[in-house]
Amino acid sequence: MFAPTYHAVAKTLHWLTAAAVLALLGVGLWMTGLPISLLKLQVYNWHKWIGLAVLALTVLRLLWRWWHPPPALPDTVTRWERALAPIGHWALLLLLLAMPLSGWLMSSAAGVSVAWFGVLPLPDLIPRNEDLFEALRTAHFVLSRALIVVVALHVAAVLYHDVLRRDGIFRRMWPSGRT
Ligand code: HEM
Repeated sequence: MFAPTYHAVAKTLHWLTAAAVLALLGVGLWMTGLPISLLKLQVYNWHKWIGLAVLALTVLRLLWRWWHPPPALPDTVTRWERALAPIGHWALLLLLLAMPLSGWLMSSAAGVSVAWFGVLPLPDLIPRNEDLFEALRTAHFVLSRALIVVVALHVAAVLYHDVLRRDGIFRRMWPSGRT
């Protein structure tokens, strides 16, 4: 008898998001230090496009989660683990909405419209405003540091379950996952 795992759709959305977010964090930290150049412009564009793809993936995830609630946790999971898990997951999901939205708002406030992957023009969310741009830039920076902390805690929790507790929690989300 196998313990229940996440649905293939939830797994696909999870791992696509994980790959995109790791790339965005790495590229984001690197690109701001680049000298003004065509490369910087291109990297910023790709950062914005992939960032907005994360917004779309997160909205899809929330819809999927609404229709298909996650599988129940096994009985081996303690009371405090049961209480902490949803706090961590919702913090991640909220940050995955707040990061791209703050970026999109920042671009709008800077007066730079985004055409998604160069083909789909997106509306500006707010009119151009220098003060708001600076505030949103700070918000995007602070949220990115919060995201790094929450992702690190998420990975630490995965390692704790897989290496120390060996309770199969990680395998529920692994692509070939059967416990
Ligand atoms: C999950 C999605 C996203 C993540 C994880 C992310 C992450 C980051 C990080 C780590 C930085 C560097 C911050 C710093 O150290 O100064 C950054 C900068 C930036 N991001 Fe994002 N970002 C995301 C989405 C977006 C989106 C959707 C846009 C715009 C549509 C955007 C626009 C920008 C811009 C313009 C900067 C440079 C700000 C500056 O020059 O100071 N980001 N992002």
